[in-house]
Amino acid sequence: MSVTSESVTEEPDVRAVLRLAYGGQFAKALAEAVRLGLPDLAGDDFVPVADLAAATGTRREVLDALLRTLALAGTFAPDGAGGYRLSAPFAPLRADHPRSVRNMCVLMAGPYTDAFNGLGRTLTGGESGFRGVHGADLYPYLTEHPETAAVFDAAMAELCRPTAHALAGAYDFGEVRRVVDVGGGDGTLLDALLTHAPWLEGVCLDRPPVCARAAARPHAAGARLTFRPADVFAEVPADGDRFLLKNVLHDWSPDLQLRLLENVRAALARTEGARLLVLEPLFEGEEGAAHALAQMVICHDGSRPFTAAALRALFDRAGLAPLRTERLACGHHLFECVATSRPQGRPGPRERSAGQSAQAGQTPR
Ligand SMILES: C[S@@+](CC[C@H](N)C(=O)[O-])C[C@H]1O[C@@H](n2cnc3c(N)ncnc32)[C@H](O)[C@@H]1O
Repeated sequence: MSVTSESVTEEPDVRAVLRLAYGGQFAKALAEAVRLGLPDLAGDDFVPVADLAAATGTRREVLDALLRTLALAGTFAPDGAGGYRLSAPFAPLRADHPRSVRNMCVLMAGPYTDAFNGLGRTLTGGESGFRGVHGADLYPYLTEHPETAAVFDAAMAELCRPTAHALAGAYDFGEVRRVVDVGGGDGTLLDALLTHAPWLEGVCLDRPPVCARAAARPHAAGARLTFRPADVFAEVPADGDRFLLKNVLHDWSPDLQLRLLENVRAALARTEGARLLVLEPLFEGEEGAAHALAQMVICHDGSRPFTAAALRALFDRAGLAPLRTERLACGHHLFECVATSRPQGRPGPRERSAGQSAQAGQTPR
């Protein structure tokens, strides 16, 4: 269902217009199929729709329409005799697939797509559509909606796995002892790194409910991985010789990005030789536009896609200097940064006046 400029011809194409107009319906139908476990139930062999309806407690004729709708998008294949199976390219909808993105589908079709009802607000005022629609920014909203929050954590973990693999292959952790993941979610990235490098220990800093959920789950790294509840806009309260910030900075307005980096810089200063590894997607190419729009609608007021130049300018303002930049196989860009000596006259995070802190906005939790 992807729309690229290649698929656009010079002829009027009402079907193409309507296919796009129906897009939201497909996303919601896909998410409901995932919630019902249909990709797991309809295996490699055809399963009669009556059996699927019985297993999911749904009405056969409605379920049949749902499956036929998703068959239009290639998700399920009908056998023409009332049976369906999952099409091979959609295997990542299954819960047990190693590259499963089932939670991302549910998150995308739910609060993220709903946030696009606030697109007009983003277009005219530049503000978060998410906040306009849901009455709260993303993270306070998740605190109030624990079920969605668990889906969010799992969705982030799904997207994290290829990055963990790519980072472990691209970065030498040989001399490193302790890694602190700032806004590290459910610890998937750290768990993978610690499994790859069994001499490492890791501290995952995140909001209290995220840490509580994550700490209750088993991790391959066992006791080497710990979770510490924190508000990283107030302080980065852990020491280590490498700090990670993956897919965190772009969530925030420029003022809050700066505040966060200054707090990380203060933490770097506590350990000699400490470095910060920033991993961010830089939205490039045709498909980057859709990611960029989603970021503007869903993230904090004023969040905009990074270019490499914008990130470098932000690092500079925060007193950080990138030593190395690399595009990883997963598509993320890795910036390895050190703290620079702060230019005279520029205040550190703890030295800011109350007026300056207020300008930077409320701590977003
Ligand atoms: C987009 S997610 C990225 C998670 C993880 N780094 C990854 O790449 O999968 C941003 C994370 O920042 C966390 N976060 C948001 N506000 C925070 C705060 N004030 N203090 C600590 N963590 C926060 C969120 O709970 C979430 O886990």
